[in-house]
Amino acid sequence: MIATLTSKKLKRVDAVLEYASKDKRFKILEVHMKKHQHRHDALIEVLHKAQELFGYLEDDLLLFISAKLALPPSRVYGVATFYHFFTLKPKGAHTCVVCMGTACYVKGADKVIAAIQDAIRIKPGETTPDKQVSLLTARCIGACGIAPAVVYDGTVTPRQSPADAVAQLKKWM
Ligand code: FES
Repeated sequence: MIATLTSKKLKRVDAVLEYASKDKRFKILEVHMKKHQHRHDALIEVLHKAQELFGYLEDDLLLFISAKLALPPSRVYGVATFYHFFTLKPKGAHTCVVCMGTACYVKGADKVIAAIQDAIRIKPGETTPDKQVSLLTARCIGACGIAPAVVYDGTVTPRQSPADAVAQLKKWM
């Protein structure tokens, strides 16, 4: 598949693979793909895992999956857009993904979510009416040592208290 990509797309794939190498969530996703022996028929499984890890399926993530599974990007986009349970780009200008995996939950992620819901009046999966903030949840993003972790616009942020999270979101609104 890679051989059929234009050089512009190949450059983008290279850039994605480069930054993916620094983000533990991509490593966890790769282990998951390996578990399925990079089989093409495991694509839906892999997309589920990716959404669990990232909260939503952004373009670069789909490109990463297409490169690693050696599937055409069009196929990966096609499947991700076909099923309603996959979330592509959130509608808000900013994205807040609260990890609700066990370690984060034990350290108070539920309180973080509750405080956010209380402060900005949206539930996970929703976007504020001013389209500034989309709130999402993920399951274990591979940062258990710094739980509870929240990802603000792609930046994994350690040990977030309810007040920290609300303060960050208020800055965006
Ligand atoms: S449970 Fe949140 S990073 Fe692992």
